[in-house]
Amino acid sequence: MNTRPRRNRKNAAIRDMVQETQLGVEHLIFPVFLKDGQGVKESIDSLPNIYRYSIDVLLKEIEVCLNLGIRVFDIFPAVEESLKDKTATYSYNDDSFYLRAIRQIKERFPEATLMSDVAMDPYSSDGHDGLVEKGEIINDKTLPILAKMSVAQAQAGIDIIGPSDMMDGRVGVIREALDLAGYSNTSIMSYTAKYASAFYGPFRDALKSAPKSGDKKTYQMNPANKSEALTEAHLDVEEGADMIMVKPALCYLDVIHLLKENFAVPVTAYNVSGEYAMVHAAAQKGWLDYNAVMSEMLLSIRRAGADGILTYFAKDFAELIKE
Ligand code: PBG
Repeated sequence: MNTRPRRNRKNAAIRDMVQETQLGVEHLIFPVFLKDGQGVKESIDSLPNIYRYSIDVLLKEIEVCLNLGIRVFDIFPAVEESLKDKTATYSYNDDSFYLRAIRQIKERFPEATLMSDVAMDPYSSDGHDGLVEKGEIINDKTLPILAKMSVAQAQAGIDIIGPSDMMDGRVGVIREALDLAGYSNTSIMSYTAKYASAFYGPFRDALKSAPKSGDKKTYQMNPANKSEALTEAHLDVEEGADMIMVKPALCYLDVIHLLKENFAVPVTAYNVSGEYAMVHAAAQKGWLDYNAVMSEMLLSIRRAGADGILTYFAKDFAELIKE
């Protein structure tokens, strides 16, 4: 045998030297949940070790994460049902607990990079990402709402706007609105290939944001489709997306790979709530080794081609590699 691949695996020094994919805390974005109030740290049954924090507690949590090397946070608001309405007006209310919290975080930790979701669902009495009329999601009437929400978030200090709504044309409309308002430095990380997935359940529990009727299949992508991700990516890049995202991550590694091969912009992946929850469930039963599985999953997402990964594992991973 001339070639014995095992020679390159014979000890840790050689294995590390020839390792093709690197994974570090600099690749991770930590999604966190914010709630109105004081002194709140509320657990979420389907998302072990992830909490809804009030701003005072969240500031402490962010400090801990910054010390672990986590620098990018995606902050999601859990909005009281009484503040929700048909047109998601609370999403651009300058005095909302969410926008106030963003300002506080940026003031206290200017070094923290903040990302925000743009979609109507956490603020909508219908629980949909777009405006609902007679049971239909109305694309073009949703766009100005998304634009207002984006400008309000940029004004509060958000560094990266994350349109997660899957309406057609939204990236262009948001880019134009941001530029007109003077926020040409605010980035857009578009949820480009966002699938109508069953893995979002725990997230919807966290925000109580599940659709009140119907499902999201008229706007989120069919899990059976791959070429369609190219169509979405072409549009988003043309409309001004700085980074494009695939979501969920693990069942869609082929899509991550496809976008990485075909586009020059950075590709990110959202390792979603259900993907995190199922590892916890198996680890609790003693069926899987939590740290090993977490590391292997995150590495596989990087190997598929993701530059950045949004993941609820961020803090656990950061603690693991610090040990
Ligand atoms: C809202 C949004 C969702 C997620 C991120 N932004 C849920 C949905 O589309 O229903 C899911 C994230 C996760 O499951 O971790 N548009």
